Amino acid sequence: MAQYDVVIIGGGPGGYNAAIRAGQLGLKVACVEGRETLGGTCLNVGCMPSKALLHASEFYEAAAGGEFAKLGIEVKPKLNLEQMMAQKAESVTALTKGIEFLFKKNKVEWLKGWGRIDGPGKVVVKAADGSETTHEAKNIVIATGSEPTPLPGVEVDNKRIVDSTGALSLPEVPKSLIVIGAGVIGLELGSVWRRLGAEVTVVEFLDRIIPGTDEEVAKTFQRALTKQGFQFKLGSKVTGAKTTGKGVELTVEPVAGGAAETLKADYVLVAIGRRPYTQGLGLETVGVETDKRGVIGNDHHKTTAPGVWVVGDVTTGPMLAHKAEDEAVAAIELIAGKAGHINYDIIPGVIYTKPEVATVGKTEEELKAAGVAYKVGKFPFMANSRAKINHETEGFVKVLADAKTDRILGAHMVGPNVGDMIAEYCVAMEFAGASEDVARTCHPHPTRSEALRQAAMGVEGWTMQA
Ligand code: FAD
Ligand code: NAI
Repeated sequence: MAQYDVVIIGGGPGGYNAAIRAGQLGLKVACVEGRETLGGTCLNVGCMPSKALLHASEFYEAAAGGEFAKLGIEVKPKLNLEQMMAQKAESVTALTKGIEFLFKKNKVEWLKGWGRIDGPGKVVVKAADGSETTHEAKNIVIATGSEPTPLPGVEVDNKRIVDSTGALSLPEVPKSLIVIGAGVIGLELGSVWRRLGAEVTVVEFLDRIIPGTDEEVAKTFQRALTKQGFQFKLGSKVTGAKTTGKGVELTVEPVAGGAAETLKADYVLVAIGRRPYTQGLGLETVGVETDKRGVIGNDHHKTTAPGVWVVGDVTTGPMLAHKAEDEAVAAIELIAGKAGHINYDIIPGVIYTKPEVATVGKTEEELKAAGVAYKVGKFPFMANSRAKINHETEGFVKVLADAKTDRILGAHMVGPNVGDMIAEYCVAMEFAGASEDVARTCHPHPTRSEALRQAAMGVEGWTMQA
């Protein structure tokens, strides 16, 4: 029986980062992954393939939609969907192979198969041929991730009714696509297919899009998407679906009550959230407790069972790759006797559409609810010279700072490239920075990052540009 310091179950951003960090710290480590490739949801069917399609489709639309022509570049693009999908698959393979390389480099053993806990300190791995091997571990890290939440009555067949995985590989550009759920997946993948020519309608249960995000950002974002051709049916619920040879018929009702209507589309994407994945993990054999949000873990990533740790989507917190990664590193550092730590107040969230949405820290709504006195600094991209020259003037940057101390409490933005730019505020907040710190920091001109500085200047009312 093989013996390890750490066995990690799951090879996604939580699992592979834990494994690599453990290897770096000299621990004897194995990672169990049942997929044929490492990288989990993120690399195989999540972050990375979706970004590959967002990148390619953005260029296609710039060429097909007249944006290039406006810049004096006249082209007549022809969509080669097969090639677009092939380059996506190639990039994904390069990334998943990269993790395999890092495993070898850091002496991480990949135990291929599906793992389950079988009593204290024991992990059983079932290989594809059905054979089972048992491994002993001083520490077990659960990193089994999440799966799409099903919608009763709208069964995903990944032919006409697809989940995010199906929507990353549609065989054709739909004439019409209905997206159920105005969250991150719906709006990112809806953007991909709209840019390639689909008519996209988003049906959302709530009366707003991207719930939890700063309301002003959400409103500006919805306006921008509507201008691009997105149609929104907010406050609406889908009560049934019928697949026909040519497409899908959905029955949709107003949440507030009223007449049902039938919506028809070539394809339907169900994107109403994800749920933790804990099936068949043998948690009961060691007393690991779960709740609605998956495996219960404390601030130090410990579960309710001794020697069993948990990181990533399968436990509470935002379902984001960088959150999984940070938890993984912290958990392994704690296992190794170091001081791993995460600041849950500073986990950024980005929606990689055009314009992008990026947020970190508290929203105005949260500060109001908590009774915190705050000041707001805001700056529109319309007044940023680089955005203007690039014809990308939609959106703004908003900074929230403590009214007394000026400490930055949150930053919320919608606009060009804000997904990259938000990192500046993450660093400022991690160093307990004040808005004045950002306002007095020299920023290069002409860059869109100047909007970050100008918004900070706005907190004290000394924004320079009109
Ligand atoms: P996962 O990545 O889900 O990995 C878990 C792994 O464990 C899987 O490979 C699974 O096969 C394996 N596993 C499960 N059970 C077992 C078992 N018993 N034995 C062996 N192996 C097992 N996040 C971002 O931060 N940015 C983005 O841009 C982004 N885009 C996304 C786009 C889409 C379409 C989707 C679906 C998600 C996206 N996410 C994004 C979310 C991101 O993918 C997840 O937050 C991240 O993958 C979580 O990492 P994880 O390691 O916890 O779980
Ligand atoms: P989500 O939680 O972002 O959005 C789901 C939406 O569906 C919400 O607006 C919700 O109100 C709505 N909804 C729920 N039930 C519904 C119903 N019955 N009918 C209509 N609408 C309904 O979930 P999503 O988009 O599925 O993404 C899952 C997770 O994946 C995200 O929470 C995010 O953590 C992660 N992700 C992150 C990305 C990024 O960081 N760029 C990209 C894609 C996914």
